[in-house]
Amino acid sequence: MIVTTKELFKAAYGKYAIGAYNINNLEQLVGLFRGNLGKFAKNEDPNDDAKSAPFIIQISRGARTYTDKNFLEGMIRTADKVFPEAIFAVHLDHGTEEVCYDCIDSGFYSSVMIDASHEEFAKNIEITKRVVDRAHEKGVVVEAELGQLGGVEEDVVGSVKLTDPAQAAEFVEKTGVDSLAVAIGTSHGAFKFSGNQGLHFDVLEKIQAAVNEVKPNFPLVMHGSSSVPAEWVARINNAGGAMKNASGVDEKQYFPAAKLGVTKINIDTDGRLVWCAIHREFFRDQPEKFDLRDPGKLFMPAYAEYIIHKNEMLGSAGHLEEVRKLIEAAK
Ligand code: G3H
Ligand code: 13P
Ligand code: ZN
Repeated sequence: MIVTTKELFKAAYGKYAIGAYNINNLEQLVGLFRGNLGKFAKNEDPNDDAKSAPFIIQISRGARTYTDKNFLEGMIRTADKVFPEAIFAVHLDHGTEEVCYDCIDSGFYSSVMIDASHEEFAKNIEITKRVVDRAHEKGVVVEAELGQLGGVEEDVVGSVKLTDPAQAAEFVEKTGVDSLAVAIGTSHGAFKFSGNQGLHFDVLEKIQAAVNEVKPNFPLVMHGSSSVPAEWVARINNAGGAMKNASGVDEKQYFPAAKLGVTKINIDTDGRLVWCAIHREFFRDQPEKFDLRDPGKLFMPAYAEYIIHKNEMLGSAGHLEEVRKLIEAAK
């Protein structure tokens, strides 16, 4: 069931974070649904819903143009039929104004992200407000970004600028946006930290307090949150890869961040690492093989397992049935 992102935020705020996972192809999509339904767990128990979670599918501009945006839409609609128990939202990741309008007008997306974080504060407010007005007319939820994460984002390599708490409150009030991505130490990609840096919980605490003064229980979003597990990086490197010094966010920081209002946590890079390791190992070990379905059959359950693990770290695992009841009750 496709739901609005707002319904998921309401259920999760202050308790756990919803995983927002980027997808680009069919195998990722199938692994994602199976993982969020707790399928393909090592000791799968069909009556055990401790592993099932609500989730957000994210589609980047790059994903929309990799093949054609209509393929993604068609695949997601089909997944909704094949996995009727799933509860999820469909979100545009890092949109421009033009792409946001395309998604809003399509009637398919639950939410869009307008990313004008590279603009001056006043201009970011102006652009975000325009998108919010148009989105809200059609019941579409909007995420914006204030501050700069650093790392590679779509085709832009950015420098870091942590979100200012007072500006965050002003931004939320003036734009009417539904959630806000904040820069608190994370960055996009597989090379996030060179030492033992972590999240700036002091800044996050101040952002939550300031924003809640203007809008209580306002959901914050953390981009660049892949953990870049050493185990997957080692598997890639042992199978011919060259990902020296890759590192990510400590997964143990997700849950404390959720308690401070981070309600959506974005994960893309980790999914790519799982894909890369599985495919490299497959072709290293079986050089005579050339059927694309053979590594795909290994990737889908591996990705599902990874999603199950991720949801456990986010705290969203085991909340699917509770969210279903909340959504039914609100009808
Ligand atoms: O924040 C960016 C996301 O990881 C999307 O990446 O533009 O390469 O699809 P992409
Ligand atoms: P990662 O690169 O850490 O997976 O971040 C993804 C993201 O923020 C997508 O918007
Ligand atoms: Zn991002």
